[in-house]
Amino acid sequence: MFDLLVTNATLPDGRSGMSLAVQDGKFVAVDAGLLAPAEETLDAQGLLVSPPFVDAHFHMDATLSYGLPRVNQSGTLLEGIALWGELKPLLTLDALIDRAMTYCDWAVGKGLLAIRSHVDICDPRLLAVEALLEVKRRVAPYLDLQLVAFPQDGVLRDPQGMDKLKRALTMGVDVVGGIPHFERTMAEGALSVKLLCELAAKQGKLVDMHCDESDDPLSRHIETLAFETQRLGLQGRVTGSHLTSMHSMDNYYVSKLLALMTEAQVHVVSNPLINITLQGRHDTYPKRRGMTRVPEQLAQGLTVAFGQDCVMDPWYSLGSGDMLEVASMGLHVAQMTSQAAMRQCFDAVTINAAKILQLPAYGLAPGCHADFVLLQARDPVEAIRLRATRLKVFRRGRVVAQTPASTATLQLPGRPGSTAWMA
Ligand code: FE2
Repeated sequence: MFDLLVTNATLPDGRSGMSLAVQDGKFVAVDAGLLAPAEETLDAQGLLVSPPFVDAHFHMDATLSYGLPRVNQSGTLLEGIALWGELKPLLTLDALIDRAMTYCDWAVGKGLLAIRSHVDICDPRLLAVEALLEVKRRVAPYLDLQLVAFPQDGVLRDPQGMDKLKRALTMGVDVVGGIPHFERTMAEGALSVKLLCELAAKQGKLVDMHCDESDDPLSRHIETLAFETQRLGLQGRVTGSHLTSMHSMDNYYVSKLLALMTEAQVHVVSNPLINITLQGRHDTYPKRRGMTRVPEQLAQGLTVAFGQDCVMDPWYSLGSGDMLEVASMGLHVAQMTSQAAMRQCFDAVTINAAKILQLPAYGLAPGCHADFVLLQARDPVEAIRLRATRLKVFRRGRVVAQTPASTATLQLPGRPGSTAWMA
């Protein structure tokens, strides 16, 4: 007798009429039409059952701080960084933990059960590191939180940057971060990439750098990141986040760069909501979109994820932890409107992001953790179109969040009594 049997599910790969059997928090069978006794059964009624959403790029130390100590009036990246600098000395451990815990509640409600969060390590107190390590411990039963040591002020530009970053790793932060385009010079940026990759290689850590988050076509730190990755044998363990300068780069140069990235198996995280709002700000018209070259990277065989990056913080006043909103924006900005490309956008907030985080036992297959979301949609494209309601969110085979189906009651002459926006 299984603990749980989900029947009549459609899976993101298109298989329909599927049953998923759960025992001891893991999937033990995933087969078409399987019927077997179970403690509990759930008829998915042909709706989409997806592995949980995964956010490959977030800033949980800044989230929900909107308005503290003031609102970003211009909405620009640079005012956001300045504002974060004003807020940092005012942060308290309890407030950081409270806001992050609230955000994790939001995330679970949206079926988002794994987040890679950068944590700023430039505060000498390392208060945010302490807070997010505590949050990671508290949410572990229901959400995987992976932390990146992020030197917001530049690991070399800040004289104690490297020491503080190493301290954060010693405290238990998982991933080595960086921000080469924010160092004083291109040379210092390249040096930071080299030093940080060497540190990661030595300590057996993953790497995820904010890389080339600018519209400067000559911001080419991704080249150094790919070079250091292959030089140090870190293939598949390194991620370039943002890479917005690739949008503006010379096409011939990009044709070489993509091959170097492929050789190094560097992963890509694009943050569509933030990139479309913060990039191109120095332009008049035409105004660049500023998102990295996602379809070309995917065509090259690179793993690309979409991240949320910010929710109600100094850089961005909006957001709710809805990875379908993120996927929708990525789809639009990159013009990924073919049937295959729209499904790739769904993968960018699920399986691709899970691969980048190296999440163990993720997915809808026997042996994987029974973590999944029942969506009020019939396929991934419809899920993106509707930002579908997360009817039920499961962690290790147990419900952790539920939302009533989204339906409008209509009072119209000669028309149906309700609609759920499905043709
Ligand atoms: Fe970021």
